[in-house]
Amino acid sequence: MERLPLDLLGAIDDLRKSRNAVILAHYYQEGDIQDVADFIGDSLQLARAAQKTTADVILFCGVHFMAETAKILNPGRIVLVPDMKAGCSLADACPAPLLQRMKDKHPAAKVVSYINCTAEVKAISDIICTSSNAERVVNSFPADQELIFAPDRNLGQYVAKQTGRAMHLWPGTCIVHETFNERKLVELVSRNPGARVVAHPECEPTLLAQAHFIGSTSALLEYVRVTEAPAFIVATEAGILHQMKKSAPGKNLIPLPGMDENCACNECPHMKRNTLEKMYLALRDLEPRLEMDEGLRLRALAPLEAMMALG
Ligand code: 13P
Ligand code: SF4
Repeated sequence: MERLPLDLLGAIDDLRKSRNAVILAHYYQEGDIQDVADFIGDSLQLARAAQKTTADVILFCGVHFMAETAKILNPGRIVLVPDMKAGCSLADACPAPLLQRMKDKHPAAKVVSYINCTAEVKAISDIICTSSNAERVVNSFPADQELIFAPDRNLGQYVAKQTGRAMHLWPGTCIVHETFNERKLVELVSRNPGARVVAHPECEPTLLAQAHFIGSTSALLEYVRVTEAPAFIVATEAGILHQMKKSAPGKNLIPLPGMDENCACNECPHMKRNTLEKMYLALRDLEPRLEMDEGLRLRALAPLEAMMALG
């Protein structure tokens, strides 16, 4: 059993300075991790922050594909992850050899991959997107261009509807967003007249059909901050409530529960693997460290840069 300092926050801060490290955290992290981070953001904002940092070390408090993205974009930095097992159901649902088979069936199609995928999948994609720029990325192709969208079927269906474009959809889903309880949503709406429903596009289409606003984590935060309403029913991972409460104090924020109200199904088990203890150990030991084959990195970089170039 590791002996940990009593003042963990102070020890993390000391190591951050002595290692010249930057701590990046996604909105789905626990509140204590968000509070200690240098920068909190959605997937696109975190990728940008990782790309431009000049710190020697990036401690990435999110999941594996996010840390991989940081390494691809900024290979000169040491990229640490508090827990290497923090994966993602979307990345797991789309092995590169199977996506290659889909590509082989549709040789004229261009591949748009959601950033929630492995470096190997990025490497065989034409362009990457996140939940905040997916429509713009899809619209960057000529209207008659055949497209494959991977690996999130729900985001793909949502973008297809918004852009009016048919796409071949990979059948992956997020284990958190697919579990939201529609019946509970209807009940909460009827008990809270005037409440606005905000949802992440990774949710099922039937749930999205009932949302007043759909957007990435940062877009949901901004909508709740600026919108006057008696209450907001929040259909995304519960970690977002930490910043929502800070940016919209006094507003009634109601997290939508999953199918089983007794489980914490609206919390991502991968995101929640990270702890302050693991962050301290990672900064102390400079491990676990994300390494990547240079050939793979360069192949994965091209579609990421194509996304970044869209602005
Ligand atoms: P965004 O950060 O793009 O909103 O995506 C949410 C998510 O599920 C990250 O894994
Ligand atoms: Fe993946 Fe869903 Fe967790 Fe995001 S919330 S990391 S999409 S499993």
